[in-house]
Amino acid sequence: MSEATHGGVLVTGGAGFIGCALSRLAATPDLRWVAVDTLNPRIHESQERPSALAPHAELVVGDIVDPATWDEVLTDWSPDVIVHLAAETDTGLSLDHPSRFTTVNVEGTAQLMEALRRHDVTPRRIVVASSRAVYGEGVWRDDSTGEERTRPQRSHDELESGQWDFPGARPLAAHAGITPANTSNVYAATKLAQEGLLSAWCASRGVDLSILRLQNVYGPGQSLINPYTGILALFVRLAAAGKEIPVYEDGAMLRDFVHIDDVAPAFARVISADYTETGTSMYDIGTGTPASVLEVAQAIATELGAPAPVVTGRYREGDVRHAWCEVQDAVARLRWAPQIDWRSGISAYVNWYLERNGAER
Ligand SMILES: NC(=O)c1ccc[n+]([C@@H]2O[C@H](COP(=O)([O-])OP(=O)(O)OC[C@H]3O[C@@H](n4cnc5c(N)ncnc54)[C@H](O)[C@@H]3O)[C@@H](O)[C@H]2O)c1
Repeated sequence: MSEATHGGVLVTGGAGFIGCALSRLAATPDLRWVAVDTLNPRIHESQERPSALAPHAELVVGDIVDPATWDEVLTDWSPDVIVHLAAETDTGLSLDHPSRFTTVNVEGTAQLMEALRRHDVTPRRIVVASSRAVYGEGVWRDDSTGEERTRPQRSHDELESGQWDFPGARPLAAHAGITPANTSNVYAATKLAQEGLLSAWCASRGVDLSILRLQNVYGPGQSLINPYTGILALFVRLAAAGKEIPVYEDGAMLRDFVHIDDVAPAFARVISADYTETGTSMYDIGTGTPASVLEVAQAIATELGAPAPVVTGRYREGDVRHAWCEVQDAVARLRWAPQIDWRSGISAYVNWYLERNGAER
């Protein structure tokens, strides 16, 4: 029987958008780095190893829901850190496929915990990629009374009648630890379940847990074949094809678009040996500066010489009205700061998209 080795980083979903970017930043040659990934065909154009994955990262093609995947990975190895990225990620799809989302996101997380127990592995830290989705509509401040309270999911009737905002109130930036969780779609509920499961398990096993609640991540390397990968990729695809970008609601929805080159360093920071926060810690990862969806669509259309975006008044069940976050906690405690504003980040993303597709401006 071979001796178990200790140390290194295991990344579930490690061949995806964030996993590959993180590997290129943090998978140094002296560090064992194992990406466990199904290479989901909705996200990966081919079932080959992605070229964006750091060359010395090992790739284990397997499903986190399947105990055999964990047995393959953990039989001879006890990783120091586990970064849990594997997930079904699209909000809209989650309403139609709740069992798929709960199986991968919730059951998959439970299988991870069970496998650690089965193989008697206790990592130093687990890091989970959570989402701004856990805040739902978030907290709004009443204009007349100043009262701050969470707002419920907008009803079908409100959306049908074009009542997009909560009248007489203003939204506040999300702030981990202060803004309560308030999920309004199935994806969000599964991300909150991941946080809850891991918080309980890690506290009882003495494992430090870092929860990173990500805003809208974009940038080079994001799947171009997945139609649900995020609105920026969709907008760029449409505008590059010379089409009008359809913008939902009245276009005034706010989002915090954070570039992958700002997100990967936040993960790199929490997995580094000199980050020593103990217990469960939670951070919002965004730029802290929101942009309206219409203004972003206009910038992309202008950049690509496409027709002006069209505000359609359509809507998507489960979408929230506004979402952005405070970043001061992450800046103070992680020694990390977002560097890329959405305008320059999107411009660079458009260039990458055109190069990737052999197109010219
Ligand atoms: N990208 C964003 O805007 C964003 C925002 C908030 C939260 N997140 C979270 O960050 C994490 C990573 O997101 P991403 O943008 O890199 O997504 P991604 O889809 O590019 O990567 C996810 C990876 O997980 C793999 N995967 C899916 N199901 C699996 C399974 N059952 N077993 C093993 N691997 C599986 C996929 O093949 C893919 O490579 C997810 O947990 C997501 O919920 C992302």
